[in-house]
Amino acid sequence: MDRLSAVDIERVRHSFDRVWSESQRLSDLFYARLFETAPEVRPLFRGDLSEQKQKFLGTLAVIVGSLENAAVLMPAAETLARQHVEYGVAPDHYPVVGEALLWSMAQCLGPHWTPEIAAAWTKAYGAVTGHMIASAYA
Ligand code: HEM
Repeated sequence: MDRLSAVDIERVRHSFDRVWSESQRLSDLFYARLFETAPEVRPLFRGDLSEQKQKFLGTLAVIVGSLENAAVLMPAAETLARQHVEYGVAPDHYPVVGEALLWSMAQCLGPHWTPEIAAAWTKAYGAVTGHMIASAYA
């Protein structure tokens, strides 16, 4: 996994903390955007979507909280990635999900979504999901 700098991690964490009080809106926007830009992934979500929103946000919070702790993050990301193979998720789906996530973060953060914050999120999402893809689809 590409190493994130301490500044990147701080930017991701701080912006995520800022959006946390609006996390319901974040997840609503995220899934709406995902299903709009990638309707082909909609049938993969077979369970209750409001539960899925909670699970996704909870796991995202754990990941954001573990970014500097590779010993915790890597095995958790590997397990998550293997589960996603079972759900029918393909490597190509990861960038689409990343785009929807960053887009919804930008909507929620408004002027607080700066180019520096966007770059830190791009790097962090790429690092975590790059590791997920490499471990689950090798
Ligand atoms: C860092 C990225 C991701 C995180 C943190 C994440 C998180 C989660 C979590 C926590 C669950 C629930 C697992 C459980 O039931 O225990 C889940 C399920 C799922 N995720 Fe992800 N996910 C990510 C990426 C993706 C991608 C790229 C896709 C592609 C479309 C995807 C599609 C799904 C699907 C289809 C399910 C099953 C939903 C259902 O059963 O209805 N996820 N994800």
